[in-house]
Amino acid sequence: MSGAGKHALASSLRGTRGDRTLAPFGRRRLPVVARETHGPYVVLGVADPDGPAPDPGQFAMLAAAERWGGGADERPFLPRAFSVARRHGDGRLDFVLEDVGPGTERLCALEPGDDVWLLGPLGRGFAPPDPGPPARRPVLVGGGVGIAPLMIWGDALRDATTLLGFRDAAHAAGAALIPGARVATDDGSVGHHGLVTELLAPELGPGAEVYACGPPPMLEAVRALCAEHDVPAQLALESGMACGFGACFGCVVPTRDGYVRLCVDGPVLDAAALAEVG
Ligand SMILES: Cc1cc2nc3c(=O)[nH]c(=O)nc-3n(C[C@H](O)[C@H](O)[C@H](O)COP(=O)(O)OP(=O)(O)OC[C@H]3O[C@@H](n4cnc5c(N)ncnc54)[C@H](O)[C@@H]3O)c2cc1C
Ligand code: FES
Repeated sequence: MSGAGKHALASSLRGTRGDRTLAPFGRRRLPVVARETHGPYVVLGVADPDGPAPDPGQFAMLAAAERWGGGADERPFLPRAFSVARRHGDGRLDFVLEDVGPGTERLCALEPGDDVWLLGPLGRGFAPPDPGPPARRPVLVGGGVGIAPLMIWGDALRDATTLLGFRDAAHAAGAALIPGARVATDDGSVGHHGLVTELLAPELGPGAEVYACGPPPMLEAVRALCAEHDVPAQLALESGMACGFGACFGCVVPTRDGYVRLCVDGPVLDAAALAEVG
């Protein structure tokens, strides 16, 4: 494929041709300045007053500055990818973390006064709803820690409908991070008893535009439902990321037009570009 063809493909996958915020060269050593817990989720605030404002949906590669390794010799881990969840007026960046393995366990243990290495912002975030006429109505759908990029996107949109799905009441404590969100839980302990897609279905009238982040089965259900109702959707996907900037090809995902590197062509992709979310 020609260079122009590749560019057109990447652009069509995102549905926009606008600029994106680029990461400054090199990683930055930044202090942790806040730590809160919401059920099993840890919100880490990192002071980044001189860093660029990320686009909603962009991510950063994070590593603890000290004790970032495994085994007796503390062999260093690779950095891990995290969505920027919020940017405060003083440049503080919030990240929402769930402890699922050694890297997230170490990051979740950080306290104010500790430092992280941060590379970012990286990738392509959410494109604004089609201004119309008629203007499209944004509907944000999150599952579990997938709430993270919806926080900064909800801050930017201001008047979005937000639907969040969690496993149980303990995890649903994360809903406090997006006031006004409607909640579904698998066990019915908070909000609607069932899947978040059951809250989504009645919202899919003409004029809706869906933005979703969550586990692959949830994203696949959102993709299929939106396709059925002919509603455009943008999905923030995950895949294992070793570098975060296009060099390792570890993060490729299949699209209708071939493989893309999720760290540079995503992590947000138009649902129409995907045959399914695997
Ligand atoms: C663009 C992007 C944004 C992300 N945003 C967030 C976020 O805001 N908050 C958050 O808690 N996590 C987020 N993640 C996931 C996070 O990067 C992984 O959970 C983390 O790398 C796991 O590292 P670990 O060492 O703790 O666990 P590991 O031992 O590496 O993995 C633990 C388990 O998670 C699985 N896993 C690891 N990485 C991924 C991945 N990227 N996608 C799917 N499964 C994975 C492994 O197969 C294993 O089952 C994001 C990932 C990407 C790619
Ligand atoms: S994470 Fe290395 S190419 Fe995407």
